[in-house]
Amino acid sequence: MLFTQLILSLGGAVFSHAAAAPTRCSPSFITKPDLIGGSILNLQANEVHNYSAVSLAPGTNNGGRYTINFCNVTVTYTHPGWNDTVNTQVWLPLDDWNGRFQGLGGGGYATGFGSIYLTYAVAQGYSSASTDGGFATGATVIPTDLSWALSSKGNVNWFLFENYASKATNDMAIIGKQITNSYYGKAAKYSYFTGCSGGGRQGLMMAQTFPDAFDGILAISPAINLETFIPAGYWPEQVMNQNKYYPSPCEVEGFTKAAVKACDRMDGVEDGIISDPDICNFTAYSFVGQNFTCNGIRHSLTASGAQVVDAAWSGSGKEGWFGVNKDAAISSYYVPTTCSGNGSCHSSGAPLFGKWVSNLVAKDSDFAINNMTDAAFFKALHASTAQYSSFVGNVESDLSSFKANGGKMITWHGLADEAIPPNGTIKYYEEVLKNDPEAQDFYRFFEAPGVAHCYGGLGPIPNGAISQLVAWVEKDDAPATLHATNGNNNTARDLCPYPLQQKYAGGDARKPASFVCARRA
Ligand SMILES: *[C@@H]1O[C@H](CO)[C@@H](O)[C@H](O)[C@H]1NC(C)=O
Ligand SMILES: *[C@@H]1O[C@H](CO)[C@@H](O)[C@H](O)[C@H]1NC(C)=O
Ligand SMILES: *[C@@H]1O[C@H](CO)[C@@H](O)[C@H](O)[C@H]1NC(C)=O
Ligand SMILES: *[C@@H]1O[C@H](CO)[C@@H](O)[C@H](O)[C@H]1NC(C)=O
Ligand SMILES: *[C@@H]1O[C@H](CO)[C@@H](O)[C@H](O)[C@H]1NC(C)=O
Ligand SMILES: *[C@@H]1O[C@H](CO)[C@@H](O)[C@H](O)[C@H]1NC(C)=O
Ligand SMILES: *[C@@H]1O[C@H](CO)[C@@H](O)[C@H](O)[C@H]1NC(C)=O
Ligand SMILES: *[C@@H]1O[C@H](CO)[C@@H](O)[C@H](O)[C@H]1NC(C)=O
Ligand SMILES: *[C@@H]1O[C@H](CO)[C@@H](O)[C@H](O)[C@H]1NC(C)=O
Repeated sequence: MLFTQLILSLGGAVFSHAAAAPTRCSPSFITKPDLIGGSILNLQANEVHNYSAVSLAPGTNNGGRYTINFCNVTVTYTHPGWNDTVNTQVWLPLDDWNGRFQGLGGGGYATGFGSIYLTYAVAQGYSSASTDGGFATGATVIPTDLSWALSSKGNVNWFLFENYASKATNDMAIIGKQITNSYYGKAAKYSYFTGCSGGGRQGLMMAQTFPDAFDGILAISPAINLETFIPAGYWPEQVMNQNKYYPSPCEVEGFTKAAVKACDRMDGVEDGIISDPDICNFTAYSFVGQNFTCNGIRHSLTASGAQVVDAAWSGSGKEGWFGVNKDAAISSYYVPTTCSGNGSCHSSGAPLFGKWVSNLVAKDSDFAINNMTDAAFFKALHASTAQYSSFVGNVESDLSSFKANGGKMITWHGLADEAIPPNGTIKYYEEVLKNDPEAQDFYRFFEAPGVAHCYGGLGPIPNGAISQLVAWVEKDDAPATLHATNGNNNTARDLCPYPLQQKYAGGDARKPASFVCARRA
């Protein structure tokens, strides 16, 4: 009888073979969260067994397929007057909860990636949460989709934009901790946030704006100062459109290879990685005339191509933002082109950057972005910074409240990041240090040579950064270096806390012991 009732109550759910005993994982057992400024519309809870998915932690390259058993709680709420509907998923391990809560960020224009990150976090024993911010979630999220940001042509949906900026992430912390407490009958001992890219930005926003939300924050490759770096990232596209010259992906790659060839050995190791970008002082123009091959045919790097590549490497000047480093794969975000069989090439539109300009600056998803004059481009850039920095700008370098709460934060940023210029993170961290010369006591930043956006690239990746953060928060064991593994050729390195810089000291370049942390020249 009980079993039948249970099956009925599961309403034909896929996981109808759930445990037959009454479970704590039900809406009648779990207390509805109390959220200031929020009104809970619905709470769903059901046990899920043998759920299997490919998953990873943000900013790692050693994920895999994990099978987990968890209590799947979905809290649906609105901010009264905002007409939004936000879904926060909280996944609670049925067995072997490690006593901690972990909130997970999203990326691009999404606040959460659902199962992609949740599954791994639950497999590690965390009670874990992800939010859709009121617009999108899960594996189906398209991180370049910004259609949600307009209520109608000409009108920004400021409420969803505030959810995206930081509010929904803080709500997720409040809801996640309360659900955890209610389900296990005791509070999480520690709470963490991990995120990369847009998720890294969410992490920084929490430390700046909601300093008591998390005890430990891992803010990786943060999309810092989104309101400026994103429209500024459209600059190479603007140059292409103005000059009507679209270099082929082979030519773009040809410039990258030429730069790597010229600068690789400047750091003492020939491994395809430019570890010290500041001394790689060649401009794209210096490579014009060098050979590259495309489909077996030899061509020369052109001056028109150099102008576009230089726009990606130098950035958009003092009105704009930094460029990316010269070993980054710029054909992904900054100079995305495709060529047809007859050899004519065109742009793929740089959607991550372009959609911001049309939706949030022109406030028209059909805006004729290809037709902007340079003056109009810089005007748009200025307008974006002016309008959105109070929402998404990482403008607060005073982290004293986070510090006073005992918070600890780690940021690392790949120097071969092809999406987000590492210099933005460096600039922010310099400001934090200026504000508090002792900031390393609670916030450390590490450069990751050769690492691409969040993962990938030739350089080793700090796959264990979350464990080092946990040791810092819980045992006051501060990370002197950040251990990085799984690089090309099975390299491992101990990344250096900024402003120290990794220097080759001799020996097998695959081993961490062959490098030291030295002062910057
Ligand atoms: C989960 O998988 C295990 C191992 O394959 C199996 O023994 C168990 O019956 C499964 N549980 C459920 C609820 O399906
Ligand atoms: C968790 O529950 C929600 C709401 O009932 C449901 O939409 C979702 O598919 C469930 N997730 C899993 C992995 O079962
Ligand atoms: C509230 O949101 C719904 C769904 O997005 C929409 O259909 C409705 O028009 C909105 N109401 C107001 C008053 O904006
Ligand atoms: C690059 O730096 C080197 C060494 O500091 C210097 O000799 C050279 O002139 C510089 N080249 C350019 C193009 O600035
Ligand atoms: C281009 O390649 C050809 C054949 O390998 C070589 O002879 C020539 O010097 C190269 N030119 C440049 C500018 O690298
Ligand atoms: C990054 O900042 C350094 C130091 O200020 C500067 O030398 C370098 O040119 C910048 N690089 C880019 C790509 O903007
Ligand atoms: C090359 O092909 C593209 C797409 O198929 C076409 O639009 C373009 O006109 C062609 N260009 C030439 C020069 O034939
Ligand atoms: C492009 O810009 C020119 C000059 O500003 C203008 O005359 C033309 O109508 C624009 N074209 C489109 C498609 O907006
Ligand atoms: C791998 O490392 C070894 C030892 O340092 C070196 O001899 C070899 O060239 C490296 N291979 C690659 C592909 O980098």
